[in-house]
Amino acid sequence: MKRPSVTCAAALTMVMGASASFDSAQDKQQQAPPPWAYTVNPPPTPGAAPAPRPADDPAPKSVPGTTVTFTIAQTRDAYNPPDWHPSGHPPMPQAVAHGRPKEMRACGFCHLTNGQGRPENASLAGLPAAYIVQQMADFKNGDRKSAEPRMGPPNAMIQDAKAATDDDIKSAAAYFSSFAFRKWIRVVEAKDVPTTRIAGSMHVPANDGTEPLGQRIIEMPEDLARTELRDGGSGFVAYVPPGSIAKGESLVKTGAGKTIACGTCHGSDLKGLGPIPPLAGRSPSYTVRQLFDLQQGVRKGAWSPLMKAAVEKLTIDDMIAIAAYTSSREP
Ligand code: HEC
Ligand code: HEC
Repeated sequence: MKRPSVTCAAALTMVMGASASFDSAQDKQQQAPPPWAYTVNPPPTPGAAPAPRPADDPAPKSVPGTTVTFTIAQTRDAYNPPDWHPSGHPPMPQAVAHGRPKEMRACGFCHLTNGQGRPENASLAGLPAAYIVQQMADFKNGDRKSAEPRMGPPNAMIQDAKAATDDDIKSAAAYFSSFAFRKWIRVVEAKDVPTTRIAGSMHVPANDGTEPLGQRIIEMPEDLARTELRDGGSGFVAYVPPGSIAKGESLVKTGAGKTIACGTCHGSDLKGLGPIPPLAGRSPSYTVRQLFDLQQGVRKGAWSPLMKAAVEKLTIDDMIAIAAYTSSREP
């Protein structure tokens, strides 16, 4: 990392954290990951026969703004994910478009071909290339895991990172860093929210009225049918507790005695700085998971110590407020 301001802050961080950290890390280890953020698919009902999966509708499907069509089976092909807007991004390298059958899924399958990502994974569009390369190394080495081992997608990511070659990583990093992330999450403060259930590792509408949100963030597709078709043009709505955006703004900008101002490293507008990733406009569920994983020490890559002073004293409510604020910013 070249930026002197970061190096300076890093040194400070490690010095300040060194003595006080051991006890608090021990205490925090006991804390359970918040289930609304770590979306685990429900287990099958004990004793029940597995529900037969309805045969896929063979009719070609499309989404707004394109003439391209795919069948449902094609939209589920992990080695040839649907590219609804082929002219909307640069040419995709092999790793992003196809991966290698039986070895490594296409990056574009989970992260979408335009890198917008989904709440259960991560947006990659606009991340610094050096940051992407570092994260792949961390996944490979076992330095980046999820605090919730039952959550499927992070485990799949680790598997694919282990299978990725240096060339796959270099080409995918060059691709995703070459264009910007677009705002596509609508952040709404709400006391009551539509009921949801977890399917495909994300919250989807349960179509059963509303329920109190409480201290949670519920992020769900704006249009489930389009999200299921992996349409990178159909975004998400994130319900956050009333007052959380303003509380988050204060934590992010001043540290509020609990953390350190984020802008020093992530850029004053949270759009990233040098190799440090942007936070603005990105998924709040993802953001909470990362803050928690960093705090619990299951994400402990080469650059993670820089986040130590930022996360060590945060409560889950603080993380909710921070994520509500960062995700509401313009990317
Ligand atoms: C099976 C789905 C899946 C596939 C395929 C996949 N990823 Fe991921 N990826 C994930 C998930 C889930 C996460 C979030 C992991 C976590 O919570 O720590 C992630 C996170 C990442 C991150 C970290 C982003 C950040 O902001 O820190 C990078 C970088 C990444 N993936 C790159 C890739 C590349 C490159 C490929 C193709 C070689 C790829 N992924 C393929 C699911 C996937
Ligand atoms: C001293 C520099 C520094 C400060 C201050 C800092 N960060 Fe970070 N942040 C980093 C670095 C470096 C990483 C990458 C960590 C890694 O690779 O594990 C990171 C990663 C993150 C991530 C994960 C991003 C992703 O794409 O996975 C989040 C979320 C985050 N920081 C939020 C914050 C918030 C919120 C604050 C303020 C409360 C903050 N950071 C303050 C340096 C900093």
